[in-house]
Amino acid sequence: MAFPHLRTLMALFTLPTIFFAGFVPRGRPGGIRGKPGFKCKPGLRGKPGSRVKLTGMKGGNKVVVEAHRHEGVFIAKGKEDALCTRNLVPGEAVYNEKRISVQNEDGTKVEYRVWNPFRSKLAAAILGGVDNIWMKPGSKVLYLGAASGTTVSHVSDLVGPTGVVYAVEFSPRSGRDLVNMAAKRTNVIPIIEDARLPARYRMLVGMVDVIFSDVAQPDQARILALNASYFLKSGGHFVISIKANCIDSTATAEAVFASEVKKLQAEQFKPMEQVTLEPFERDHACVVGAYRVPKKPKLAAS
Ligand SMILES: C[S@@+](CC[C@H](N)C(=O)[O-])C[C@H]1O[C@@H](n2cnc3c(N)ncnc32)[C@H](O)[C@@H]1O
Repeated sequence: MAFPHLRTLMALFTLPTIFFAGFVPRGRPGGIRGKPGFKCKPGLRGKPGSRVKLTGMKGGNKVVVEAHRHEGVFIAKGKEDALCTRNLVPGEAVYNEKRISVQNEDGTKVEYRVWNPFRSKLAAAILGGVDNIWMKPGSKVLYLGAASGTTVSHVSDLVGPTGVVYAVEFSPRSGRDLVNMAAKRTNVIPIIEDARLPARYRMLVGMVDVIFSDVAQPDQARILALNASYFLKSGGHFVISIKANCIDSTATAEAVFASEVKKLQAEQFKPMEQVTLEPFERDHACVVGAYRVPKKPKLAAS
């Protein structure tokens, strides 16, 4: 088996009790070789000196939760380790995910939700070692391709009560779940519309810090660019998940990723990083970068 830990990981996410799954990042260094700034780092690393030291006892398991180097993301360290976010709505699961309740030294309780990388490309990118997701507490995020809100709910936890997630989904069926989830999460604005037609929801969405796009469409670079032209601030950022065979099933995944990066560059995006989503998703990559980066002023000739 290419990834010997994969069977364990899959088992951990399907068992009904609380687990602290051992994610060992195995993403191949994704990227556009030779370009500075494209890197792949191991994902499940705590920020040095950022131990939260919350100790929880549930089901007999002792857990310590540490801040991840991505602000708003955590690692539950128990028998096994798991990526998680702090639950904005304690007591509620969204997709039947595991929850971990931990107790502070002062006796107050905090609840975390385990973030399953098999069900979330953003979690897979974090475990693949992405350097920056450009989302943190307080961020304003436009999320394209929200589906029923699995990943949206973790982004909602991550940005917290001072942030906002505008979540666009055009399928009425998935949209129903999304709307139900958003009813309990005041920082999620569900928008049941076609992301190709941002003019239809321009009255609902403010300027955002980052766009996360996971529409899995052949014209997804254009969809991202169109939404960026309406809602992304200059110097803002994008994170796009690319499923190679949705774009061209005849080319190699690497060739598809490279051609998508070229399309993005032609639309005022500056790709900075690319990570593979393996072993969680086959032939997927996540590309991260900036939008309308202001040009550095030229030094005056002396
Ligand atoms: C890969 S799924 C997204 C999964 C989701 N991001 C998650 O992690 O839970 C792609 C979603 O994009 C939606 N989608 C595709 N094209 C769209 C469009 N033009 N406008 C809005 N949603 C779209 C699909 O209906 C589907 O739910």
